[in-house]
Amino acid sequence: TARQLVLGIETSCDETAASVVARDADGRGTILSNVVLSQIADHAAFGGVVPEIAARAHVEALDQVVAAALAEARADFGDLDAVAATAGPGLIGGVIVGLTTAKAIALAAGLPLIAVNHLEGHALTARLTDGLAFPYLLLLVSGGHTQILLVSGVGVYERWGTTIDDALGEAFDKTAKLLGLPYPGGPAVERAAETGDPARFVLPRPMIGRPGSDFSFSGLKTALRQQAEAVAPLSDQDVADLCAAFEVTATAVVADRIAHAFERFRAAFPEIAAPALVVAGGVAANRRLRTALAEAAAAAGFRLVAPPLKLCTDNGAMIAWAGAERLALGLLDGLDAPARPRWPL
Ligand code: KG4
Ligand code: ZN
Repeated sequence: TARQLVLGIETSCDETAASVVARDADGRGTILSNVVLSQIADHAAFGGVVPEIAARAHVEALDQVVAAALAEARADFGDLDAVAATAGPGLIGGVIVGLTTAKAIALAAGLPLIAVNHLEGHALTARLTDGLAFPYLLLLVSGGHTQILLVSGVGVYERWGTTIDDALGEAFDKTAKLLGLPYPGGPAVERAAETGDPARFVLPRPMIGRPGSDFSFSGLKTALRQQAEAVAPLSDQDVADLCAAFEVTATAVVADRIAHAFERFRAAFPEIAAPALVVAGGVAANRRLRTALAEAAAAAGFRLVAPPLKLCTDNGAMIAWAGAERLALGLLDGLDAPARPRWPL
């Protein structure tokens, strides 16, 4: 088959996004457009994403976002080979908006539909950006997910680690809220931590040293709250020191958990000389975390692959690309494909 064009739609959280991606016969991908409309301003006053507001905002914006993605790619519906949309997991109102829109386009334009798992979108992005070959390790750290996955083929994933309570981004967001910092919390905590002393407060390091690659962050958050209450009212320096303590502790936990996954990967694939660790999700923007991961990867002989941030956070290109990979394998879905609030890979 020749070059194939796929429209991808992402509406599972607070980004209304659409993109057109091309996939060449040799498997190489090109992003022709990538339009992302953030709803952060709609939710900021509430300190988090409000599902009902998100769903309504997707309804209002999606047709224009799709039109912009097509225009930027200089494509019409007739140029497309398939339409893909996130079918879950995510906030169900938003997922229904995106998936139903994709179904309508598929029906009207006579295109195949591909119902994409949002996590698969994150998992396959590094093949679009870096042409990675299977297998590789993926660390997904976002507001909704904290997972370590073995990615060994399109649709072939093993979950080696997951959080038993909060996602890492969620822990950043809750820490920010607790300390009176704005939403989204991750960037605010990172900024405050820059002038903080990470050694002043000592927080517990959940899961470190335990076998496996599971995460836990809720105990960390509770300890942080107790230590903040003990020194309240908080000065700017107190906030900075608490943020720095949170960041180094969370980073140490992730580094420990990924080290276990490196060992397991080595044992499973001794023939791969320089395996790759891909990081994805909004928390991958965190510089302290990136530095720690780069060090841990180097120590274990892994390559750290960090796609550009715009492709690490939620976007339409990752969905279009997952759709293109599925299309190439003939993995299509019917117009009865369900929207799924929960959908483990
Ligand atoms: O992947 P993403 O954009 O959306 C989903 O959750 O799907 O991730 C958003 C999360 C938020 O929790 C945000 O606080 C966190 O990523 N985040 C960060 C940073 N930038 C965003 N966390 C730590 N440091 C950052 N610089
Ligand atoms: Zn995501």
